[in-house]
Amino acid sequence: MLAIIGGSGLTQLSNLDVSHREVARTPYGRPSGALTFGRLGKRKAVFLARHGHNHDIPPHRVNYRANLWALKEAGASAIVSVASVGAIPAHLNPGDIVIPHQILDYTWGRPSTYFDGDDTPVVHVDFTEPYDATLRVDLIRAAAAANISLQDGGVYAATQGPRLETAAEIDRYARDGATVVGMTGMPEAVLARELKLPYAAINLVANHAAGRGASRNGIHFERLEEVLQEAMGRVRALLNQL
Ligand code: HPA
Repeated sequence: MLAIIGGSGLTQLSNLDVSHREVARTPYGRPSGALTFGRLGKRKAVFLARHGHNHDIPPHRVNYRANLWALKEAGASAIVSVASVGAIPAHLNPGDIVIPHQILDYTWGRPSTYFDGDDTPVVHVDFTEPYDATLRVDLIRAAAAANISLQDGGVYAATQGPRLETAAEIDRYARDGATVVGMTGMPEAVLARELKLPYAAINLVANHAAGRGASRNGIHFERLEEVLQEAMGRVRALLNQL
């Protein structure tokens, strides 16, 4: 069963034909909200709103361990994360979709492993390729079949938030090789890997990153709702095709 974790702009999946909801408990506490089960196209799927149904959980306080654990327990066999991002290079614009292939992690202080040492062996999970290659290809093929254009590949910089970045930080991330910047991609991706769940991400560009393009003098989210609404239509179509 495919699991979808929705971020800002995707707190519910309107094309999911809902069968039931379940409030899960895990050894790591409660997930961000109820798991919504249903059908997406012909397949069973489960949806979870990363920031809660009322969008009141900030990125650094999301219980990533509980979220991934609950989805696995519920029978998820693969996870697609939907997350909005800021774009660093000039060719990317609000509304664009990127399927990232790499991660830079600048987050700190977030519980980011299931192998914490208490009663668990030390495990160093391989994370050379943080996203599942097959699931990425499936997403890219689904996009082609549904006539949705996207960028295949990008380096996702995970920042701590909830504040946005300074222009100098974005310059640094660009020098490091980052393409997009967001606040929730880690530790979500590594926890999925620890649970052996194939994981890939759909990054939706919400804005130019701080100091770049239209955000040269600051990030203004005036048109954000409009951009996200339109783009989430394409993301839903992509998920349906997948
Ligand atoms: N920075 C970090 N996270 C984000 C941004 C950004 O500019 N836009 C959407 N999520």
